[in-house]
Amino acid sequence: MKIFDLRSDTVTKPSPGMRKAMAEAEVGDDVYGEDPTVNKLQDMAAKLTGKEAALYVSTGSMGNLIPIYLNCGAGNELLIEARGHSVQHELAGVSALAGSLPIMIAAPHGILTPELLTPWIQPDAYDHARTRLIMLENTHNAAGGTVYTLAALREIGAFARKRNLAVHIDGARLFNAVTASGIDAQTICREADTVTFCLSKGLGAPVGSLLCGSRAFIAEARRVRKMLGGGMRQAGIIAAAGIFALEHNIERLAEDHQNARMIARALSATSWATLDPNDVVTNILYFRTPDRKAADVVKSLARQGILCWDMGVDQVRFVTHIDLSADDAREVAAIVEKMKL
Ligand SMILES: Cc1ncc(COP(=O)(O)O)c(C=O)c1O
Repeated sequence: MKIFDLRSDTVTKPSPGMRKAMAEAEVGDDVYGEDPTVNKLQDMAAKLTGKEAALYVSTGSMGNLIPIYLNCGAGNELLIEARGHSVQHELAGVSALAGSLPIMIAAPHGILTPELLTPWIQPDAYDHARTRLIMLENTHNAAGGTVYTLAALREIGAFARKRNLAVHIDGARLFNAVTASGIDAQTICREADTVTFCLSKGLGAPVGSLLCGSRAFIAEARRVRKMLGGGMRQAGIIAAAGIFALEHNIERLAEDHQNARMIARALSATSWATLDPNDVVTNILYFRTPDRKAADVVKSLARQGILCWDMGVDQVRFVTHIDLSADDAREVAAIVEKMKL
């Protein structure tokens, strides 16, 4: 039976071209700053996001933790959407390692606004922790791959600057946001002090994320990366995959979005899944299973070769990616349409 793995866009395998680039990568000791391939990748990331500098880190989690540690820090508060990845899936590193208190704010579609943030800004009083950082997730994974509009980003940027708060974008899927919104990465990132984007999600690389910010910030971030055990040596081998991903795999993200929308339409025509296909704007889709347990629906789908995750009792997630072609997506849509539960 053919298997369609829609559990995540992290399940992809490096393509032959990517593996060739990895095999041929020039390397050096990156802890000494001497790996030319890592340096090239970091320069590319800084340029793409319009920041002065970038740091190659092993994961998105590390790329989020470092700015929380540096821009929020022990005894201070950060404001984050309640379903944010950093507070739901990063092992409480925000408090366990950075010492910060996350204030989790529920926002429709995962999109924070000044109105939602304002009540949570601590007053300047001796018995209050200080609010230091706003974290935005773009695209927002748990909210269904949702995307900030430029107007929403600008409002938050202006709000933060006025209050001297730092802004970090968890852009694990930044280029999905770019693709869906038509706003270039530099314009999105201008509203934030720092941004992390992942190579190992929609971009199809096996490992790695880039934390981007000012030169001074990245110099400090390099120290914290080392403290966390994240200093890598001949990392050019894996950074080469990242360069390949940035050069070849950004443009094609639109296909993943189209495939997700196609599958969403098929799901919406069934009796067992509820969703509005118009809500699907990137490569992540969620549907409700009002009359059945999501876990049972996931099992039924697996029997037809479709792998996915249940998210809560009555919600299932599908994620499209580079290893799912348009033909595969059509097959998934056909299986879903025929499936009776
Ligand atoms: C929105 C978001 N941020 C951060 C991460 C963390 O990335 P990593 O698994 O590389 O630590 C993920 C992982 O799926 C994510 O979806």
